[in-house]
Amino acid sequence: MKNSFKRIDAHLSTLGYCSRSEAAAFLKKHQVSSGGVRVRDVKCKVFHTNVLVDGKELDPETLTLLMNKPEGVICSHNDAGKLIYSLLPQRWQRRNPKLSTIGRLDIDTTGAILLTDDGGLNHKLTSPKSKAPKVYEAILAASLKGDEAEIFASGRLMLHGEKKPLLPAKMEVLSEKKARLEICEGKYHQVKRMFAATGNKVVALHRVSFNGCDVDDLEPAQYKLLMLHSDEYNLE
Ligand code: URA
Repeated sequence: MKNSFKRIDAHLSTLGYCSRSEAAAFLKKHQVSSGGVRVRDVKCKVFHTNVLVDGKELDPETLTLLMNKPEGVICSHNDAGKLIYSLLPQRWQRRNPKLSTIGRLDIDTTGAILLTDDGGLNHKLTSPKSKAPKVYEAILAASLKGDEAEIFASGRLMLHGEKKPLLPAKMEVLSEKKARLEICEGKYHQVKRMFAATGNKVVALHRVSFNGCDVDDLEPAQYKLLMLHSDEYNLE
């Protein structure tokens, strides 16, 4: 439960500062205070916003980040290879519940990805009802033919293996072999499959923004904290 009194050992462990069994040693090593009073007992009950560790406020109880995903990292907790979570500070990697990506980007796709430990927010933004807009820039192997925008906007494009056509999507030509595409659903490899359906091939894919959050100010692998909470976030 957020905003409630919790045992300091449990709370520090939830936030990834140390494990419960390491809490006694952590309290000895670090200046942990609650309401200005030094906390020395692992059983002490604290209120999140009253706690300081070495003079600093605790990390937020709910963490949501926007990252500019670099190429070569995987949006998964258990695949072989370099996982996106390895780009985060160790403490955030130890949080419980874990930070998870909101949806996924392919290993070779770069750009905007949200990570959160707010299960409600993750569910809302990945639910088929969400219609969160996702804007991509795709570099293509062959020149655009000219009918792609119409095909994508039609609401009739059926991808192989799907039961329903895709929702209408907006495409803008940026150059002969480059397009900007806005979609509001998130089917597996959707952008690559959309261009494949027109006889083309995506050779590089960058997500410019997710639900209005863009990564223009972030270098690859950089991230920033966002103040998003599922209970303040009504997508219905
Ligand atoms: N569409 C794709 O094909 N790949 C992604 O990573 C995202 C959308």
